[in-house]
Amino acid sequence: MTPHPSKLYQRMALYIGAAIAAFVLLGVASLVLVASQQLQNYLAAREGSLGAEAARVLDQGGQSALLAWMRDPNTLPNGVALYVLDGSGRDLDGKPLPAQYQNFVERFVLAGTRGEADNFRPIRLAPLLVAPDGTRYAFLLLPDRIAPWGSPTALAAVIAAALVVIAVVAAFIARAFGKPIAELQLAVRALARGRIATRAPVSVSGRDDEIGALARDFDSMAEQLESLLASRQQLMRDMSHELRSPLARLQAALALAERKQPLPAPEHTRILTELERMNQAIGDVLRFTRLEAEPLQIKHLLRIDELLATLIEDESDEALTHEVRIDLQAEQDLSVVGDPQLLRSGFENVLRNAIRHAPAGSAVEVRAQRSTNDSLLISIEDRGPGVPADQLERIFEPYVRLAAPGNDRTGTGLGLAIARRVFAAHGGDISAVLATPGGLCVRIRLPQAC
Ligand SMILES: Nc1ncnc2c1ncn2[C@@H]1O[C@H](COP(=O)(O)OP(=O)(O)OP(=O)(O)O)[C@@H](O)[C@H]1O
Ligand SMILES: [Mg+2]
Repeated sequence: MTPHPSKLYQRMALYIGAAIAAFVLLGVASLVLVASQQLQNYLAAREGSLGAEAARVLDQGGQSALLAWMRDPNTLPNGVALYVLDGSGRDLDGKPLPAQYQNFVERFVLAGTRGEADNFRPIRLAPLLVAPDGTRYAFLLLPDRIAPWGSPTALAAVIAAALVVIAVVAAFIARAFGKPIAELQLAVRALARGRIATRAPVSVSGRDDEIGALARDFDSMAEQLESLLASRQQLMRDMSHELRSPLARLQAALALAERKQPLPAPEHTRILTELERMNQAIGDVLRFTRLEAEPLQIKHLLRIDELLATLIEDESDEALTHEVRIDLQAEQDLSVVGDPQLLRSGFENVLRNAIRHAPAGSAVEVRAQRSTNDSLLISIEDRGPGVPADQLERIFEPYVRLAAPGNDRTGTGLGLAIARRVFAAHGGDISAVLATPGGLCVRIRLPQAC
């Protein structure tokens, strides 16, 4: 429990309180309106000359004439009930007095019909009529009926008005809380999709309630994340640069040492291969971090069918080593806009994986074609072991390497991560599916240049 009610709580209490107050006000106002309308005829009748007329009728025709006058439907206005009561409270017409009035009539009205001392003239709430035979009657006018909600139409109108008030307040509450939460949600989703520079809109982070505080927390979290990523990239770049110089010196030292005393051929080749692998790994890390940090710099119009043909040509030696055929089927004039170097490295990573995993004697199939909605579809499929179905997405994450075939320990696990970045930077995407009858099929979609 916080010592002070929270801002959000205060706002909600304010809105809901306002709704209840408006509802009560509406109820009271309609009650007053209905009751005053119902009482209008009664008050007019009370202030009119009905009593005097009754006295005249009684004087001229006695009780029977008065009874006939009372029963005449034209005598009384609507909403008014007339009682002519004798000393014991019985109505001349035999109408029973409503229960809620009985006590009041007994105390303040009937006393007058029983006569008082000559020197006592109390103020009476009902005029007295005196019949020719001397009988005293109390002439009592009462409102006929006061229903708290009036007619069914009035009741329906009050309910409808109340519903409108509630709907307006509910819409207001939903807008006041729903809109900033939806805006914040958009920002969170954008951040989750990797747009690290996203911040909450000022209209939300400027609020002085919990939603505003949440938006400000989100902003500082995003800032923290951004600076962490930036420093990670910087570290990777620095480390790669730092490693490259000693590596170059190592190569130079090896060449010098060899001049003095040549190494046996297997050891020499081994050292050179390992040095080359290290160089390659450092290059991959550098390329990967650069792709993460910088948007696409170079944009050329280039033909994917030609790029693939050249790439396959260049990889033919590698394919020959693995005893694998590469089969290209590409439509003509497949153009995209992009960085030729980057696109080549993206395809190269996928193709080299396929060659490496394809069994000897099999073919790697490369297909390129136009697909619907102005995009190009390129697939690279091998007949190798494929990957477990639940790893199809994971292999695109950096440094993820599944069990390599045989004792193949080459590679950094960055190849597909680099490819994903490259194609995403070109507005496309890459995914993997299991091929039939076996093997892996990697699909790349790129927007076609118009
Ligand atoms: N065609 C394929 N068939 C079977 N498994 C594959 C295939 N392509 C990729 N993989 C699996 O996905 C993992 C990740 O591939 P990725 O290209 O990112 O890294 P790598 O090939 O191991 O190393 P690098 O490409 O950096 O030299 C691989 O280690 C391998 O287990
Ligand atoms: Mg690879």
